[in-house]
Amino acid sequence: MEKNIVLIGFMGTGKSTVGSKVAGRLKRKFVDMDREIERIVGMTVSEIFKRYGEIRFRSEEKLMAQKLAREAGLVIAAGGGVVLDPVNMERLSQNGIIICLKAAPNDIYHRVNRKKGTRPLLRKGMDLEDIEEMLKARESLYAQADYQVSTSGKSPEQVATEIIKLIN
Ligand code: S3P
Repeated sequence: MEKNIVLIGFMGTGKSTVGSKVAGRLKRKFVDMDREIERIVGMTVSEIFKRYGEIRFRSEEKLMAQKLAREAGLVIAAGGGVVLDPVNMERLSQNGIIICLKAAPNDIYHRVNRKKGTRPLLRKGMDLEDIEEMLKARESLYAQADYQVSTSGKSPEQVATEIIKLIN
């Protein structure tokens, strides 16, 4: 049974873009957890947060992690907060290689600002220091990954190549 490849990492590190490239090159199915949750709930992640709050989103995320952990051979782009619940990580790593994408705080800041409004945890007017603070708070959680891959200064294709080499 082929293990899943699970991309974790902070918002704006390129999990979805890189994940779909890795999947395409390995001819595997790609699952973006947030998009899958949106499809099932019938609302965007922002709407789920706004209407029902973060707790509801986290519970959908937990169910999704449980469901995907039972499958094999997938490339999964997890939401940045999947690491907050140790049960998610336990489940996903049972049948998955966990790869954490990293980026310099400044790159994250610019990337997330380009897609304003799609990330409910990033309040309007958040500055670089706020991002650095959030990153620091999650640092030890992201460090649990089997591999760490830096994305700063690299194209999604380059990062995908690195990941494919790692898992081979
Ligand atoms: C979150 C990251 C988001 C999304 C939700 C919460 C987080 O996913 O799941 O807004 O807690 O870091 P991306 O990492 O794809 O932006």
